[in-house]
Amino acid sequence: MKIRAATTDDVDAVIALRIESEAWLHSAGIQQWVDRARGVRNIRDGIAAGNTYVVEHESTVVASLTLAGPDPDFWTDADIPSSALYLYKFMIGSPHRGTGLGSRLLDWACDQARQRQKLWLRLDCWRENKALQRYYMQHGFQHVRTVVVAGRGSGALFQRPVLAPQPSHPLQQASRR
Ligand SMILES: CC(C)(COP(=O)(O)OP(=O)(O)OC[C@H]1O[C@@H](n2cnc3c(N)ncnc32)[C@H](O)[C@@H]1OP(=O)(O)O)[C@@H](O)C(=O)NCCC(=O)NCCS
Repeated sequence: MKIRAATTDDVDAVIALRIESEAWLHSAGIQQWVDRARGVRNIRDGIAAGNTYVVEHESTVVASLTLAGPDPDFWTDADIPSSALYLYKFMIGSPHRGTGLGSRLLDWACDQARQRQKLWLRLDCWRENKALQRYYMQHGFQHVRTVVVAGRGSGALFQRPVLAPQPSHPLQQASRR
């Protein structure tokens, strides 16, 4: 398996992952990712911006994630948004779920954050989806807070430290001020 930046040639494959995830979520009665048009728009934007990555296995895209800046609906100045990298659209195709790939990808995303001099990998997820929140906590994330924003189902905010805090790190000093 290899992970690489997605290109416009991957748009259809990433949208297919999204549609498969939607079907799985909805058949499990989980009201998440109900707005396909918005989801597809976000996928196209993420790939065009160079923020989306895909995992390839035997020339097939089997997973995808996007690493980008903060969603201003959720993260405030007090969070020092620049101290983190933000994970979006984390998806693994059903044949590869439960294989440990998710855990490896979260470690990889954390390492990307570290390489970009960040202290945290952060994400927002569905407020009502306690099972998904448990998943992230089992993978090293801490609950920051849950916020309600009109028109958004998401708002449970989590972060995972990239490494043990270094007192000399400029963002660490900023967060103490
Ligand atoms: C989230 C995801 C990438 C994790 O992949 P993974 O590391 O291989 O882990 P699994 O798929 O085995 O899931 C682990 C557990 O979390 C649960 N889970 C995963 N995504 C979930 C979701 N969106 N809502 C509720 N439960 C979820 C699984 O049912 C499983 O529960 P179990 O241990 O009781 O069987 C993958 O499940 C996925 O693509 N989910 C659909 C898309 C999604 O919801 N992405 C997160 C957006 S914030």
